[in-house]
Amino acid sequence: MTRKKIAAGNWKMFKTPDETKSFFVEFAPLFSGSQAPASAIACPEVVFFIPAYDFAAAVDAVKAYAEKPKIGAQNIFHEREGAFTGELSPIGVKSAGATYVLIGHSERRSLFFESDEFAAKKVRAAVECGLTPMLCVGETLKEREAGSMLDVVSRQIIAGLSQVNPDARFVIAYEPVWAIGTGKVATNEQAEEAHAAIRRVLEGIFSEAKAEATSILYGGSVKPDNAGALAQQPNIDGFLVGGASLKARDFASIVEKLNH
Ligand code: PGA
Repeated sequence: MTRKKIAAGNWKMFKTPDETKSFFVEFAPLFSGSQAPASAIACPEVVFFIPAYDFAAAVDAVKAYAEKPKIGAQNIFHEREGAFTGELSPIGVKSAGATYVLIGHSERRSLFFESDEFAAKKVRAAVECGLTPMLCVGETLKEREAGSMLDVVSRQIIAGLSQVNPDARFVIAYEPVWAIGTGKVATNEQAEEAHAAIRRVLEGIFSEAKAEATSILYGGSVKPDNAGALAQQPNIDGFLVGGASLKARDFASIVEKLNH
């Protein structure tokens, strides 16, 4: 199957523009070193979801790269412009250099009370403005223990994608909430089971072809030492990495694991 492998970093609210510049200077040689030769299997696409105030520094810093990593926004509002104080316009972030946007991250859902319906509007706005949405889904520990992982994740996907056409490009990130920032990574079996289930949900909404072509990333305490085994699972197409993406060396090592 030829679906795209993706290594994505989620910087959350870390790094100033100066720190962003230093990161990309350090990452450049590590990144080119981790790129497979043209004859090898496809290299992963590399995306950094960074604070919007770091876009200009990142766009400038990656000018020197032969193969440029992509820039993503961590959030958008669902209108293109208007009286929405403090919000980020999808066309604004696009013209500032973003090609991706994270939607429905668990921190947005829990700390900022974002609903599935709100996520759906943002997914639609992203697609309409030419951004690739990465829809994040995942169950809490309580939900997992209650045996409702699949119900929760299905609901988040069905609702979140309810306003897009089958031909829209989107990516799914499965991030069990109990694994985010806790150091408690899902086992290979738990992650693979969830990813295979997500693919079946996508097949139910769209088609087998669409489900097979959609990249599904795992996120939650991904580190250089657990990424290799997770990357071997047939339904894991890459990673959404928080803490370890802040360190150039660690993130480059995770990218490297997707080359095999
Ligand atoms: P983590 O974060 O890798 O630090 O667990 C993942 C995320 O929040 O996307």
